[in-house]
Amino acid sequence: MANLTTTFIGITSPNPFWLASAPPTDKEYNVRRAFEAGWGGVVWKTLGSEGPPIVNVNGPRYGAIWGADRRLLGLNNIELITDRPLQTNLDEIRRVKRDWPDRALVISLMVPCDEESWKDILMRIEDTGADGVELNFGCPHGMSERGMGSAVGQVPEYIEMVTRWVKQYSRMPCIVKLTPNISDIRRPAEAARRGGADAVSLINTINSITSVNLDSFAPEPTIDGKGAHGGYCGPAVKPIALSMVSEIARNPETRGLPISGIGGVTTWRDAAEFLALGAGNVQVCTAAMTYGFKIVQEMISGLSQYLDEKGLGGTADLVGRAVPNVTDWNQLNLNYVTKAEIDQDLCIKCGRCFAACEDTSHQAIWMKEGRTFEVNDAECVACNLCIDVCPVDNCITMRPLKKGETDPRTGRKVGDYANWTTHPNNPMAVKAAE
Ligand SMILES: Cc1cc2nc3c(=O)[nH]c(=O)nc-3n(C[C@H](O)[C@H](O)[C@H](O)COP(=O)(O)O)c2cc1C
Ligand code: SF4
Ligand code: SF4
Repeated sequence: MANLTTTFIGITSPNPFWLASAPPTDKEYNVRRAFEAGWGGVVWKTLGSEGPPIVNVNGPRYGAIWGADRRLLGLNNIELITDRPLQTNLDEIRRVKRDWPDRALVISLMVPCDEESWKDILMRIEDTGADGVELNFGCPHGMSERGMGSAVGQVPEYIEMVTRWVKQYSRMPCIVKLTPNISDIRRPAEAARRGGADAVSLINTINSITSVNLDSFAPEPTIDGKGAHGGYCGPAVKPIALSMVSEIARNPETRGLPISGIGGVTTWRDAAEFLALGAGNVQVCTAAMTYGFKIVQEMISGLSQYLDEKGLGGTADLVGRAVPNVTDWNQLNLNYVTKAEIDQDLCIKCGRCFAACEDTSHQAIWMKEGRTFEVNDAECVACNLCIDVCPVDNCITMRPLKKGETDPRTGRKVGDYANWTTHPNNPMAVKAAE
């Protein structure tokens, strides 16, 4: 079995699976059980300043989106940072780290955006033995209305300023946790690097209303007839998180900045995808909240087996492997031509591909005698919709045309690589050539 030991910004853990700052890491009881189950590390539930404890709502704080089998796909929450006293958390952190020295223990922090508050909290956590800090610039509800969380994460200048304070007043490695509620994720990541961050982590949750009760006309979860937007996470957000991680990984201004990938990680495969797109490790919240701590065991065995199969010695060999293959649309090969192909032996004759292609794509699927479905290459634009709607795995596949082969749709022979930047229909390309 491949060794999954991972060193992320100098913090070594037996595997790259950390629990994200959230209810699973809110107290000693949880974290001990998480470590017993095999988690490589945790980011402790966000701590705030000393003072009156945080007050959460006393009604429902979660909402959800489900798939047809009622599997949870997206989770929405209006929970705040820890509502337990600061000293209680610090005592527990010290004890847990003492007993589990081989696991990563990072403390998430969120205090008001002034130098004294940051200096003060950093002094208090210094002797807990924790391995590092994560700055929560991501929480999109409640705390942001008080000028913290995503209110900071949406202003690159604030990110840079606070990160500088943290690096000035602490010797601990510092991870800056980013909010996805921003138009260009590269800007806050660049600011974190300018401020001296050792790494960024992303994504925190996405502003969301998961549902509206059509009897009471209130968003859910509903608190006494009213609802507020919450933060969205779980499998549904993974594509957004992957894209943001890849943007930071390939941005020349942040290239090489370590990334902790978060958002919808549920299986070893999800984790491997984050690593391939440049994340040095992953953090998990919703999957643990849905299936319990032992889900990490599947992640560990799946990832080790995959690394073995690929002949990779460890996670570091996987990190960033897919980054060179992420590009801009205008670099894609317009001479790459494929055609959909239906495997008649696998087809169950449901007709979904036909309905989709006939009504909303390119009328490229024939329905013949006996509900036999066939692709008409002369019309197929290879959009992939039939594959996406087909209920049978691998029943429809894409066949790439060989170089020199004629595309029956356009009548043109398949040529060498050529992209939009040089395409004759591109007015900018014509200008450049003149
Ligand atoms: C109920 C709940 C509470 C959370 N609290 C925090 C928090 O205190 N600090 C923080 O940085 N992120 C918090 N998060 C965000 C998670 O750490 C994580 O970024 C997000 O859930 C995406 O990961 P996932 O898709 O694996 O859940 C919370 C998430 C949930 C669901
Ligand atoms: S790939 Fe698109 S155009 Fe081709 S058959 Fe499928 S749905 Fe129709
Ligand atoms: S969607 Fe798939 S299974 Fe259904 S008819 Fe088309 S090819 Fe066959």
